[in-house]
Amino acid sequence: MNSIEAKKVVEEKLPKKRFDHSVRVAETAVKMAEIFNADKDKSYLAGVLHDYCKYDNDNDMKQIIKESAFSEEYLDYGNAILHGPAAAAIMKKEFYINDKEILFAIKNHTSGRAGMGLIEKIIFVADYIEPGRDIPGVEDIRNIIFKEENLDQAVYEISKRNITFLISKNVKIFSETFKCYNYYN
Ligand SMILES: [Fe+2]
Ligand SMILES: [Fe+2]
Repeated sequence: MNSIEAKKVVEEKLPKKRFDHSVRVAETAVKMAEIFNADKDKSYLAGVLHDYCKYDNDNDMKQIIKESAFSEEYLDYGNAILHGPAAAAIMKKEFYINDKEILFAIKNHTSGRAGMGLIEKIIFVADYIEPGRDIPGVEDIRNIIFKEENLDQAVYEISKRNITFLISKNVKIFSETFKCYNYYN
């Protein structure tokens, strides 16, 4: 699948607002790929596809996650975690994407993980800092990327903020989210 085809399948599947976010993540990922010497085409593809399952039904996502033999721990979580692995599974199964870097970036964008690859880290961060985001403090993360050019530090800061936010909401936290935080600490 090339970037034009990828954009088309996402445009057909997602509401306009989420499609626009997906394109901005892809474009941000390409900018980051230039800085960190990553493959731009793969970064774009992973970015545009990462939220493909964002509006899918939880039970459908759990089914495809089971069929893909992904961790059973996923089954204890909802959309916020599930839509990454579900999209990776569908990209492999229905769109024949076999590139591990792209699949890992899509799969793990919802949690992060310890020891992420370059494109995985780029998508994890691009999703947080794309220009449409106005999360308090997002400018600090943009500076860590575009001024300090420190990708691991950005991953750490985002993990920390995500965990702090989730604790404030009294919700369960997926183990990979903690592993990501610890690894990049
Ligand atoms: Fe997402
Ligand atoms: Fe996203």
